Amino acid sequence: MVFIPHFSYLHSISYNLCREIVATYSIEAKKLGLRILELLSEGLGLGSGFFGDKLSESSLLSVNHYPPCPDPSLTLGVSRHCDPNLLTILHQGDAYGLQVFKDGEWIGVEPLHNAFVVNIGHQLQIISNNKLKSAEHRAVTNSRVARTTAAFFINPSDDCVIEPDKSLIDTNESPAYRPFQFKEFLLNYSSSMGNPEKCLEPFELHA
Ligand code: OGA
Ligand code: NI
Repeated sequence: MVFIPHFSYLHSISYNLCREIVATYSIEAKKLGLRILELLSEGLGLGSGFFGDKLSESSLLSVNHYPPCPDPSLTLGVSRHCDPNLLTILHQGDAYGLQVFKDGEWIGVEPLHNAFVVNIGHQLQIISNNKLKSAEHRAVTNSRVARTTAAFFINPSDDCVIEPDKSLIDTNESPAYRPFQFKEFLLNYSSSMGNPEKCLEPFELHA
């Protein structure tokens, strides 16, 4: 006798399994991100737990799928941007596609099996008064294989006020950014389509 499962039964198993995997992955990615933030905080001379609470209250798992493209010169997977958040833990899978802009050129970030890419987001750059730099990156397509990546974004809460921390403004420096609520940054980020210069502009202070 052949047992043919009812579609909705199959669907509910895969749905629950998916929920479980996403929940487990998210909990572990958050733990890893908070550990990295704690080390960054120590390196910057900020107190323990500095990035806890509202600065890292929210998170988002975004799964990107890039189908093979017959002519990769015609399109990008994701255009140039820096991540708008605090810190990103990116799992690239095994297919190449990520590039980072350094010293005027795009450099490929080859995937390492079981390794994550950690991106400093705009908010870390702002809080550190430009001591940490958010990395400009993009994803290219390829003509052979599909590529699926999982980006885990650690974000401040919407109403969290972001500003350069006073202890990170050197005596010969002034704050490079005005205080703002994170939701204000996100609004401007989407209207400037992630353009790395335009999305910082409204928050910059010029000495
Ligand atoms: C992103 C991103 C790159 C990739 O989601 O912000 O930069 O390789 N993704 O999918
Ligand atoms: Ni990104």
